[in-house]
Amino acid sequence: MDNRPIGLLDSGVGGLTVARELLRQLPNEEIVYIGDTRRAPYGPRSREQIIAFTWDMVNFLLSKNVKMIVMACNTATAMTLEIVKEELDIPVIGVILPGASSAIQKTKTNKIGVIATQASIRSDEYHKTIARKSSAIEVLSLACPKFVSIVESNEMESEIAKRVVSESLAPLVGKIDTLILGCTHYPLLRSLIQETMGKEVRLIDSGAEAVRDISVLLNYFEINAHERKEYQHCFYTTAGVNSFREIAEKWLNIGHLHIEHAEIENFNKEK
Ligand code: DGL
Repeated sequence: MDNRPIGLLDSGVGGLTVARELLRQLPNEEIVYIGDTRRAPYGPRSREQIIAFTWDMVNFLLSKNVKMIVMACNTATAMTLEIVKEELDIPVIGVILPGASSAIQKTKTNKIGVIATQASIRSDEYHKTIARKSSAIEVLSLACPKFVSIVESNEMESEIAKRVVSESLAPLVGKIDTLILGCTHYPLLRSLIQETMGKEVRLIDSGAEAVRDISVLLNYFEINAHERKEYQHCFYTTAGVNSFREIAEKWLNIGHLHIEHAEIENFNKEK
């Protein structure tokens, strides 16, 4: 048993989609969340920048004494998972393998679509992960660079969001039976995505799928938390607290979240 918190990281509010599922499936666990909102989106950034920024978040979480790190961000997972894993002596988990495995399980036509940020699509990590497991599957990948800004600016219900989603996804409509939401921000646009793709297309939320693997790791390392009377989940953002709070409290359906601003640039373990 281990009551230390689980650390989650993302470029902004996207990782909340993982946090929501984690709190639902593993209610004994406490979480510390860092969203690098000030430097989001990560998708258009270079590999070097994404690696450096992810290390800032990892070191910040280590300073909070976490027992495990969840990269609740596909872009960070694609660029840094193996590097970070190698350096740390606590378990580190990403969202790509769980999303890819679930899509392989669900597809009936062997035609899977992946939508993600430019950096994730450029890395081709989903395609490679699926191909390693099954060469029979065709993967159609598509970058959706406008989605993250829509979510970060809390415009999910706007007319613009509707138009952007339907125009962006047009190349995939009618071509696949399973679509991986390969960016943790995208489940916040889920209903628009489903409407555009058609109700017969199965949407895979890679972050939510990762929670099953988190649970397996907690068991494997025997670090599940005890049930307690009170939990103090802590959320940190590198930008202003207000808009983060608006999205987080609605999405998690929890009021009065503990949310603080954090400076994480060049954060090192000694701080
Ligand atoms: N939520 C992130 C992901 O899963 C990053 C989005 C971004 O900052 O571009 O890829």
